[in-house]
Amino acid sequence: MTQHPYNPGRLLFGGDYNPEQWSRDVWVEDIALMRRAAVNTVSLGIFSWALLEPREGEYDVTWLDDIIALLHEAGIGFFLATPTASPPPWFTRAYPDALPVRADGTKLSHGSRDTYAISAPAYRDASRRIARFLADRYGSHPGLRGWHVHNEYGTIDYGPHAAEAFRRWLRRKYDSLDALNAAWVTAFWSQHYDEWNDVLPPRATQYLHNPAQAVDFKRFNSDEMLEAYLEQKAEITASGSTAPVTTNFMLPTWNHLEQWSWSDAQDAVSIDHYLDDPGIDGETHVAYCGDLTRSWAGGPWLLMEQNAIGIRMGDRTSLKEPDQTIRNSLGYIARGSQSSLFFQWRASAGGSEFWHGALVPHAGEASRAFEAVVELGGILESISEVVEPPTDGRTFEADVAILWDAEGWWSTETPHLPNDALSYSDEVRATHRSLWRAGISVDFVRAGDDLSRYRLVIIPSMFAMSEADAAWLTSYVRAGGQVVVQFFSGIADMNQRVITGGYPGVLRELLGVRAEEIRPLPDGETLELGEEHYSELWSERVQLDGATSVVDYREGALAGLPAITRNDVGAGAATYLSTRLTQRSRDRFYARLCVDLGIEPVVSGAADLGLEAVRRRGAAADYLFLLHHGSERVTVSGEGVDLVTGASATGLSLEPGGVAVIRESSREWMLAAENPSGE
Ligand code: GLA
Repeated sequence: MTQHPYNPGRLLFGGDYNPEQWSRDVWVEDIALMRRAAVNTVSLGIFSWALLEPREGEYDVTWLDDIIALLHEAGIGFFLATPTASPPPWFTRAYPDALPVRADGTKLSHGSRDTYAISAPAYRDASRRIARFLADRYGSHPGLRGWHVHNEYGTIDYGPHAAEAFRRWLRRKYDSLDALNAAWVTAFWSQHYDEWNDVLPPRATQYLHNPAQAVDFKRFNSDEMLEAYLEQKAEITASGSTAPVTTNFMLPTWNHLEQWSWSDAQDAVSIDHYLDDPGIDGETHVAYCGDLTRSWAGGPWLLMEQNAIGIRMGDRTSLKEPDQTIRNSLGYIARGSQSSLFFQWRASAGGSEFWHGALVPHAGEASRAFEAVVELGGILESISEVVEPPTDGRTFEADVAILWDAEGWWSTETPHLPNDALSYSDEVRATHRSLWRAGISVDFVRAGDDLSRYRLVIIPSMFAMSEADAAWLTSYVRAGGQVVVQFFSGIADMNQRVITGGYPGVLRELLGVRAEEIRPLPDGETLELGEEHYSELWSERVQLDGATSVVDYREGALAGLPAITRNDVGAGAATYLSTRLTQRSRDRFYARLCVDLGIEPVVSGAADLGLEAVRRRGAAADYLFLLHHGSERVTVSGEGVDLVTGASATGLSLEPGGVAVIRESSREWMLAAENPSGE
C-alpha cells in the first residue's frame, strides 16, 4: 500500500468555487462570507476552459488572476484544476473527431460537460497544453494547495479513436491474436478474429457481448485515462511546480477506475462523495467512502466534494439537515480526511446545476444553511490538530479488512450471470454496513497486500481470481488468519473463464468445499437457514470436502445441505458463505463472528445507543470522534477533552444529532443513555 502522508497543516474547509458566473461585487461578498465561515480553501477553474483559452492557443487569465489575488489577500488557499473535463465549443468545432461516441454509435455534441474522447490525439495534446500553461503561470503561487487534474475521469468512448487505442492495449496485453482468441473464447458464436482491425470496443450489438472483451474494455479505459492523467501530471512536474497533484475519484454511482493503481500515481488521493440515502443509511455510506479512500491512499486523504444542503437523488432534491452536514463532515475526517470540501460554494442562479445545494444557498447568508456552515467552520478550526498524522503514518487501526477489487465490480456488470441482480458494490457495501452497525473498524485491502495485522479478512464476490490470489489467502489462513469468502468468488480466471470441476474454482482447497450447482433465487424470495438466518438472491449445492457445515439450508431443494461452512487450515480457518445473507442475518453473522474472534468495537455499547465511535490516531494524541445518530441524549465518561466544546470528557452530555471530538487521555469509555426525567 503506497503511503500518501498528505498533510496541509490544517483541516481544509471550503469547496468548488465558480466565480466566473458572478460579477466582481459578488466575489467581494463571497470572500467576506468565506472569512466569516473560516473557509480556507476553494477549488478553482474546474470547468473554465472556454474562458481560460477563448481561442486555441490564446489565453485570458485576467479574471483568474484577479480572484486568486483577492483570495490570497484574504488568506484563502486554492486547488487549481486543469479544466480538461469540459472542452470548449471551439475545440469540438476544430476537432470534431474528439467527441465521444456512445456504444450505440451516437456521436455526442458539446453543450453539457465531460464531452471528450479520451483517446483522441487532439484532445490529449490540448489537455497537455492547457495543463502546462496553468502550471507555468500558477505553479509556484504561495496560495496553491495542490493541482486538481481534470474532474472525475469517466467518459467512456466507443468511437474510432477508442477502437484504435483499445487494439494497441490488447496487442500489448496478448501479443498475438491467437492469445486473444483463446482468452476471449472467441471459438463460441463465430467470434474468431483473424485481423486486429476487426477487434472493437463492445459497441451495441445484436445480443450478448463477449464478457472477456467487456472486462478488458473496462481495464483498458482505466489504463487509458490513467495515461491521460499522467501526461498532465508530467507537464505540471516539468513546469517546476512542487504542489501535490491529485484527481478526484467519484463514488458511488459509477466506477471506471481501478483505484489502487490510480492512487499510486497521485501525491494525495481525493474523492467526491454524494450520499445515496438521506437517512441513517447515508451515514453508513459516509463511513464506507471514508474507509475506502483512506485505504486506497494508505493514509490521510482529501474529501474534495460532498453535497451541501441539498442531496440530488434521482429526479428530486432532498434536504440535508444542517446537523447532518456537520456529522457527515466529521465522519469523513474521523476516517482520515484532511478536508471538508463541498460542491459548491454559492448556489448557481442559472446554468445546468442551478438547483444543486451549496454552502451559500439561493436565499443567501440569512439562512440556517449558512449558519450551519459558519458553525462547521468553527468546529473544524477547533479540532484542526487532528490533521497531524502519527509518526508511523497510520491514522487508523482496524482488525478487519475487506477486499476491494474494481475488477470484481466490472465482472458483475457483464450480462448473463447466474443472477444479473447481483451487484458487486451492493455486496461490498452490505458487508461493510454490517460491521459499521457493530461499531467495528474496517480497512479495505487489495489482493497481495500484507494481511498480517488483520484478524479477519472478508472476500465479497471476487468473481475472477488467480492462483496467486488463492495462494495469498491460503498463506494468511495457514499463519492463523480468519477468512470469510462470500459466494461468487474465485469462480473464474482473470480472463473471465470459469474454472471447471466445481465452484469456487481456485478457492476449493482453501475452503474445503465443492459446489456443483448455483441456484439463483427469484427476486423477493428468501430462504430459511439454520440459526435463524435468512438468505436471498443466490444459493449453491455445496459438498463438504474437508470443511464442516456451520449452518445448513432449512428449506427448498437444498434443505439439510451446507449453506455456511468452515475449514480449519493451519493455524486459521476459512469460512464460506454459499448464499447471500439478508442484511439482518449478515449483521448478526458478522457481529457474532467478531465476538467469537475477540474483535472489539471502538467503544463498547456505542452502536446500541446510535453513536458512531471512530478513533483517528494523531501526532499528539488519539482522537475519539463520537457522532450521535440516535434519538436519546447520551452521557459519555472517560478521560480527555472534547475539542468541539473545550469541555472535559468526564460526564459529557451528547444531544441527538450532536458530535464530540475527544483528545483521549485513555481509551476507557463508558456510555449511558440519559433519562431526561432524571429517574
Ligand atoms: C460532481 C461534480 C461536480 C458537480 C457535482 C454535483 O461531483 O464534480 O461538478 O456536478 O457532481 O453533484
